[in-house]
Amino acid sequence: MGNRSIQLSTARDLSQSTWAAGDFSLVAASNQIVSELLCEAIPLRAGQRVLDVATGSGNTALAATRRATEVVGVDFVPALLDRARERAHAERARKVTFEEGDTENLPFPDASFDVVLSTYGHMFAPDPARAAQEMIRVCRPGGHIGFAAWTPQGLFGKVFDLHDKYNPPPEGSSPVTRWGDEEFVRERFGSAAQSFRFERRDRIFRALSVEQWFGFISQYLGPTVVTMERLDEPKRQAFKREMIGLMEGANQSGDETLFAPAEYLEAVIKLR
Ligand SMILES: C[S@@+](CC[C@H](N)C(=O)[O-])C[C@H]1O[C@@H](n2cnc3c(N)ncnc32)[C@H](O)[C@@H]1O
Repeated sequence: MGNRSIQLSTARDLSQSTWAAGDFSLVAASNQIVSELLCEAIPLRAGQRVLDVATGSGNTALAATRRATEVVGVDFVPALLDRARERAHAERARKVTFEEGDTENLPFPDASFDVVLSTYGHMFAPDPARAAQEMIRVCRPGGHIGFAAWTPQGLFGKVFDLHDKYNPPPEGSSPVTRWGDEEFVRERFGSAAQSFRFERRDRIFRALSVEQWFGFISQYLGPTVVTMERLDEPKRQAFKREMIGLMEGANQSGDETLFAPAEYLEAVIKLR
């Protein structure tokens, strides 16, 4: 393996242990609307074969199965897949399955899906070119790829930048918010794409207070859990202060609660 491959495989291992920390299913619960909007943006048709890349606890896979499609959700954290299966069982959804797999090495033959989706999922792959190639490979010609990704200038883009400042990613990893930039998306899908549609939307963060929000993500959002664990006490306090300052700056509630819009890019790509 060359140096670049070793760096990327270390980055993948680190990313996996990071997302296995905390319990992302609790964070994901308030993201469901993003998945529903993405499924309408495609728009999905009954009977289509759909893949949800980096499904986590299944938000987008479940949104797709509610539209009478046949869905597979794939993720590299087994505990999150268990949460997704529990949810599918509770909804009596019979045409959705969940499998372990890596975004950069999808365990499916070429052209196996009509539609490939990802909500804040494929954006975390350390090698974005590889993630895009894999999504293109498993999608049939003329099919659709759709995703949601935080924009660099939006609130959650800045939240991830702060994580990187205090807990720098391994050398060679691509900044996750690049997927929120339309030009970057055009470059990645390039000649495989027949057309692109982009929409900038806001996902609203709500909590009883900014402090309560920070306490919540420190317990459940893997990247925050791991960052807090790795820092010594003075740096932990500095990270907390900066995160709270960022959220306070974005808070539009006008009262003691948190109501903060975070911009994301919704992208729909039709393949040739
Ligand atoms: C922010 S969560 C989003 C989960 C889900 N798509 C949703 O909308 O709730 C990111 C997810 O990406 C998964 N993930 C990150 N990198 C991955 C990779 N290389 N292969 C598979 N899953 C990955 C994590 O395990 C986690 O479930």
